[in-house]
Amino acid sequence: MKRNAPIPTSEIFTRLERIPTTIYPDAQAAAARVAGIIAATIRENNSRGKNTVLGLATGHTPIDVYRELIRLHREDGLDLSKCITFNLDEYYPMPPDSIQSYVRWMKENLFDHVNIPAANIHIPDGSLPEDQVEAFCRDYEAKIKAAGGIDIQILGIGGTGHIGFNEPGSSPDSVTRLITLDSATRRGAASDFFGEANVPRRAITMGVGTILKARRIFCLAFGEHKASVVRKAVEGPLTDAVVASFLQNHPQAEVVVDVAAAGALTRVATPWVLGEIEWTDYNEHRAVIWLSNKLNKSLLKLDASDYDENHLASLLRKSESADVINRRVYGRLFATIADNGQLVSGKRILCFSPHPDDDVISMGGTLSHLVRRGNEVHVAYMTSGNIAVFDDYALQMMDFWQELNRASGLDGPKAQAFDKKVREFLSAKQPGQVDIEELQEVKGRLRRSEAVAACRWMGIPKSRAHFLDLPFYKTGEVRKRPIGPEDIDIVYKLLRDVRPHWIFVAGELSDPHGTHRLCAEAIFAALKRCKPEEMPEIVWLYRGAWQEWDIDLIDLAVPLSHSELTHKIFGIFKHQSQKDKALFPGPYDDREFWQRAEARNTDTAARYNRLGLPEYYGMEAFVRWEP
Ligand code: F6R
Repeated sequence: MKRNAPIPTSEIFTRLERIPTTIYPDAQAAAARVAGIIAATIRENNSRGKNTVLGLATGHTPIDVYRELIRLHREDGLDLSKCITFNLDEYYPMPPDSIQSYVRWMKENLFDHVNIPAANIHIPDGSLPEDQVEAFCRDYEAKIKAAGGIDIQILGIGGTGHIGFNEPGSSPDSVTRLITLDSATRRGAASDFFGEANVPRRAITMGVGTILKARRIFCLAFGEHKASVVRKAVEGPLTDAVVASFLQNHPQAEVVVDVAAAGALTRVATPWVLGEIEWTDYNEHRAVIWLSNKLNKSLLKLDASDYDENHLASLLRKSESADVINRRVYGRLFATIADNGQLVSGKRILCFSPHPDDDVISMGGTLSHLVRRGNEVHVAYMTSGNIAVFDDYALQMMDFWQELNRASGLDGPKAQAFDKKVREFLSAKQPGQVDIEELQEVKGRLRRSEAVAACRWMGIPKSRAHFLDLPFYKTGEVRKRPIGPEDIDIVYKLLRDVRPHWIFVAGELSDPHGTHRLCAEAIFAALKRCKPEEMPEIVWLYRGAWQEWDIDLIDLAVPLSHSELTHKIFGIFKHQSQKDKALFPGPYDDREFWQRAEARNTDTAARYNRLGLPEYYGMEAFVRWEP
């Protein structure tokens, strides 16, 4: 069943959207268009001898826009010498050369690569003494005014609905000021600061009023984790509880999203409530599942009046009867359950795990099943995951290593020098400081041994645990390099060595740090290189620790009994460094990974059961990749 439902664009379907919203297949396509508009404006103004005033954002979202502007500058001669820029915000306090500073971020991601004169660049100054901040903010507003106001403002949107750092409660006429960050924003930024405790409590931000004065605004959002806040901003009421909703009042604001971030908009999620749609198999499938959930009635109990009274009359008219549709959808879902023969035997299986625990968290039950069925199961750990290890745990393991060395007479000068260097670094380490190479090595090796232990638990021998250590990840920071040919080479070589029949890829559309997405990018690029005889028979997609697939997308659901799920949880426990508390839990979930996995697997089973399918204890779910 093809699952790509075209997204309707006519007015009937966009009528709930109070800010014009454009949906692109992916972030790159969206960024190319926004960068194209910025470039055209700059060229037009240049030709008239006029400056172009740009309002700029930082964060994960605008990066592709800046990459494209850099490309246009280098390859198409885009001249930015008459641009004047004002950045939205900066943490407070924040030294400008710190790795978390937006000053440094802007240099690395844009200013060092284009020809905007340094004197034209303005970024809120996080290094000022507090008694000077207010005057600085007044002056910032005056400078924007003196420059003629902002021509184009780029915005991202935070999970709290903030634009700039205008957290809920900010008024629509607020100006540049010092504000206190919400705890959800601080938790969301925890990964950039190596832990929430290191995230500053305050920030200097342009006001909502300052932003709304810009002549044209592009508010960008990419990835599924933005879908619900995008819906609130675009379709919800105008409210200071979701500050981005104030864009509804701007005459030239546009929300620019990828398909994933658009996922909760009504025209994408449930277009049949807005107008007539084409009843493809997939639309039928998801609409009937939606109806069953909405009415809290199992699939086989839905009747004609349920269809008629809930926007699905045209679907009903197309078929013989409600019963026929109900049975068709039920049959499709039933066929996804792996108890019905879908799991192979005697094949080579390769699971790609972005970090050293995604495999067991997301599909530990399935991996154990596949081993039991006599498959040759391999796991490829794509990155070391070293940044997610707490310092005190690394130190504890260093103590163990030192003791062992002493006891076995291996504490020679080299070992002692290594030990001393790491301990000295740790005792002087500043909050948020990047680890020295030796400590990165300790943390990476620790996670490796945990992955080997979890593999052993699942019945996978050490020789089939592959540690790829992809170069894109090895920055020591949360910020990563783009995927390069050397990453793709490594993945391709493994595919050629193992020659798997099935591969599993963490293929969600978004994750809080972007690492999963980059890993998937490397795999798909490597698959493109495969000759037909080297291609796996099936590529399955699983999701990382954060969420499970929606039921209507699932192609394979692997049931787990209570004891199988318990066994899997013990596998997750092998990742000791991630136990008790994760360094990067994500903004909205404080639970440990095993708790999330347990809840997610039992919830998937319960969702199948609520639709009237058999009652299993837990389930892991997969989507078949369609090239
Ligand atoms: C950053 C800023 C913030 C971010 C928002 C989304 O300059 O003003 O409003 O745009 O928090 O952040 P990302 O893009 O990292 O998801």
